[in-house]
Amino acid sequence: MGKVVVVGSINVDMVFTSNVRPKAGETVLGSKFSIIPGGKGANQAVAAGKLGAEICMIGCVGDDSNGEFSIKNFNLMNVDTNCVEIIQGIPTGVANIVVAEKDNSIIVIPGANYEITRKTIDKYKDVILSADIVLLQLEIPLDAVEYTAELCRKNNVKVLLNPAPAVELPKSLIENASYITPNEHELNIILGKQNNTDEIIKKYPNKLIVTIGSKGVKYYDGNEMKIVPSYDVEVVDTTGAGDTFCGGLAAALVRGDSLEESIKFANKAASISVTKLGAQSGMPTLKEINEKELQM
Ligand code: ATP
Ligand code: RIB
Repeated sequence: MGKVVVVGSINVDMVFTSNVRPKAGETVLGSKFSIIPGGKGANQAVAAGKLGAEICMIGCVGDDSNGEFSIKNFNLMNVDTNCVEIIQGIPTGVANIVVAEKDNSIIVIPGANYEITRKTIDKYKDVILSADIVLLQLEIPLDAVEYTAELCRKNNVKVLLNPAPAVELPKSLIENASYITPNEHELNIILGKQNNTDEIIKKYPNKLIVTIGSKGVKYYDGNEMKIVPSYDVEVVDTTGAGDTFCGGLAAALVRGDSLEESIKFANKAASISVTKLGAQSGMPTLKEINEKELQM
């Protein structure tokens, strides 16, 4: 069993389900409200843990009930919380998620997630360097992400960067990451505006792994453009599909699977995850992945 360390965000998701998405200035009646553990970092930690990796989370919550809720959830999910700090006087990160018309829209208020600094990274340096792979996203300060990636690169620890929410990435961060996993929309932001996405993917063989929603995953293996098709499933909520993909990819890589096998495995995990409401609720276990027969 390999070790995955996540340096990232922890949120509580306030999920509003509705048939229609309200337009600006409009009020609509929805059908369901749920409070669910979330945050891209936390989701990826839980996904990788459910899929067999040893997991340690480095992050911050506030000294509030949402923080307690998040830590309890990690404990249930066997995520090591020794490096999760409770910040006094600052709220835990929250996300307002509208699930409507087969898609989601999300506003995140980072709260305590923005308390992760270079000092936090220095404090947990040994934990970070004990990892087989470090997972990073962009819901914590970019400076902390860059600093962690640089530390890892200098010490030959692999970094999987999920560049979400997307910003144009500094060159050094691109170089320091071993794998970068944008969705199609994020791909058009992280490397600056480009016209031909296949050309960009070709520039980063076996590194730039683009998730393309219901179409699956696209990457260049050095010889040819590969598309790993997703599975034909009944979609309930795609929130966290990208996170399940990243967690699954990390879990498969640290147990020694090839990149191709790892992408196929993560794609199956992500396809299963969209069949339930909530980012973490639909994330499959290793047993479910092995047992579930799905059609492409
Ligand atoms: P998120 O909703 O978490 O932000 P994302 O936009 O980061 O997701 P997507 O590219 O939409 O990422 O999806 C990630 C992966 O989830 C896909 O590569 C695929 O494996 C799976 N997936 C997403 N949507 C579907 C779908 N409709 N049917 C089957 N699988 C899907
Ligand atoms: O990727 C899904 C996640 O994005 C949600 O859990 C929400 O918290 C936001 O961070």
